[in-house]
Formats: sequence, C-alpha cells, structure tokens
Amino acid sequence: MYKPIEGKELPYRAIITGTGSYVPQKTLTNEDLAELVDTSDEWITSRTGIKSRHICTDEESTALLATNAARQAIERAGIDPKELDLILVGTVTPEMIFPSTACFVQHELGATHAWGYDISAACSGFVYSLATAQQFIETGLIKRALVIGADTLSKITDWTDRASAILFGDGAGAVVLEQYEGKDRGILYNTMGADGSAWQSLNCQAYGSRHPVGRELESPSMKYISIQGRDIYQQAVRMIVESVHKCLDACHLKADDVKMLVSHQMNARIIESAAKRLHLPDEKIFVNIQEYGNTSAASIPIALNECIEAGKVGQGDLVIFVAFGGGLTWGANVIRL
Ligand code: ACO
Repeated sequence: MYKPIEGKELPYRAIITGTGSYVPQKTLTNEDLAELVDTSDEWITSRTGIKSRHICTDEESTALLATNAARQAIERAGIDPKELDLILVGTVTPEMIFPSTACFVQHELGATHAWGYDISAACSGFVYSLATAQQFIETGLIKRALVIGADTLSKITDWTDRASAILFGDGAGAVVLEQYEGKDRGILYNTMGADGSAWQSLNCQAYGSRHPVGRELESPSMKYISIQGRDIYQQAVRMIVESVHKCLDACHLKADDVKMLVSHQMNARIIESAAKRLHLPDEKIFVNIQEYGNTSAASIPIALNECIEAGKVGQGDLVIFVAFGGGLTWGANVIRL
C-alpha cells in the first residue's frame, strides 16, 4: 500500500489528465538499414530488439511532431489550449537554436496564455520535464501544464555509422498535467541524477558555442551523435535499477504494487535485464522499441500513451517512468494515474 511521503504534503497534486503521441509516417526497417550500412536484421534484433523506426521527411521537424502529440493529449484531457499555463518540451533536437520548440508549439496550438521553454536532458528529457512542471502545479503557481518529449534524432544521425544508425527513431509524446485537490492520485515522487564527467560517452558536439557554425570542425563526425554503446550499457542497467529502488523505498512500495514500469526504450536487452534485477515480471514492463527504436525524450510518453490505449494501465494504477541518457542523465517519476 502507498503511504504518503513524510513532509511532502503540498496544497495540490499534479495529475495526468490526457496523453497523446505522434510519429512520422515514413519507416525505416532493419532490412532498409542493411542496404545503407554493414549490418543485418538478425544483429540488430538480437542486440537491441529494434525491428523498425519512424523517420521524418525533410519537411517534418520536432515542433510538428510535438504539436501533433500535444493536440491528442489536449483533446483527451478535454481542455481548451487557451487554458494551458505552461508548455515544457524535453528535446535535444529543438526546432532551432532559438526560439524554443515550446514557443513554436504554443503558437501552433493557439495556447495564448501559456509560457514555456525547452529542457535539454537527452533521453531523460521527459522525466526531467514532468518533475519540473509538477513543482509549479503543486505549489499552486499554475493550474495546467503541457509536458512534451519530442526528438528527431534522425536529423543528427550519421547514416554511414552502423554503431549509431541502427538505434534511433523520431517521435513525440505529450501529457496534460493538471492541478488536483484530492490525495489519491498524482505524481508521488521523483528522483533525478546527472554525471557530466561522462559526457564523451554520448553526445553531439556541433554546433553549440564550443564548436560554432562557421568554424571548421576537427572531424565531420562531430555533427552527428557519437555513442560508446558498450561503455554505457552496464551503467544504463545499473542506473535504471538504482532509480527504481529509490522510488520504491521513498514511497514505501514493493515491486508488486507497481502496475507498469514504463522505461525509456533504449534497448530491449537493457530493459529486460533491469526488470529481472527488480523482480518485475514481463507483464509489468512495457516494450515497444521494436516499432520505434530509441526516440529519446519521446519514448516514455509514447509508451505511456500506448499502454493507456491498450488498457494495460488506467486511473488509479501505479506506474513508474524511468530514463537514462546523454549527459549522462537519469531519473524516474512515480505516478498514481
Ligand atoms: N551491425 C553489425 N555489427 C555491428 C553493428 C551493427 N549495427 N554495430 C557494431 N557491430 C559489431 C562491432 O563492430 C563489434 O564487432 P567486433 O566484436 O568484431 O569488434 C560487435 O558488433 C559488438 O559491438 P558492441 O558495440 O560491443 O555491441 P553491443 O552488444 O554492445 O551492442 C549497442 C551495441 C546496441 C549500442 C549496445 O551497446 C547498447 O544498447 N548500449 C546502450 C545504449 C544506451 O544506453 N542508450 C541510452 C541512451 S541513448 C541517448 O541518450 C540518445
């Protein structure tokens, strides 16, 4: 049974009232990839669980995916975009350096009363953003937030590098988070972490202020995602397990109380290995990486939306979101839906 955390009583709770997701129509299968780089469906499937991914056309971009996911979440929450106070977008592939993707989404939705900004935490972007929006709602500063995870990693993928090209896909997921006066639902706990010393394991170095546009790059590969997959594999498993343990301990919960672990979809083997260590049976972990690949900040809200649509989780169920990604960053949220 859930027992409220001591000292955590704030005036309000933040509850999820609507979810949505959107991915580009175009797909790239493992067989398609095997024509671009030296790889095979067998290698990719056995090492990662990925079979296909959705990829933007040149005309599609992060704000478009984010806006479409947001529209679905808003419709399901039954609110008007003008009722939104805040828009947060977790992304590392923003629409532009500035303005923020959040501003593009705000304009497209006609959310004229909302302010907003982007949060850069790679694959942990949604988990970080949800925890951020929660603070504004629980303290009573705002009533409604739109929290989006959206990434188009295909735009910064080197399609000649088999180590990274097989992993990523594009997409967006969104939730509407609203103020709630009851105590039976809401975000119950967050744990977040970062380790900047390991930034070289996973990054995209151009074109920030260190390697600006206009200055020649030391290597053309700096324009693309660089990933030391083997180095971070074990760390990903460890941080997922540690984060979930922290959540269970802080909320006085047992693995049995969890209806679903909605993990960032980085590699099916990582998720399964973490679930095994957490003693979570197959029916309590959600895996959809086979269709989408790793969609970075979008993967958790896309997975949540699919879980809800499939009736795997619903109001009153306890779910844990957990993520790990570039930064390095990691984090988890505990939510009573
Ligand atoms: N096809 C065929 N062979 C390949 C491919 C490929 N696409 N890629 C690598 N290989 C080869 C390698 O060259 C190597 O060959 P060798 O033994 O002759 O040297 C062999 O396969 C094994 O390579 P590894 O890199 O050790 O493969 P591994 O089993 O570690 O799988 C993977 C690689 C899938 C990237 C895995 O390490 C992984 O998932 N890591 C974690 C990713 C992660 O945590 N992501 C989360 C954050 S992502 C973000 O924030 C954006």
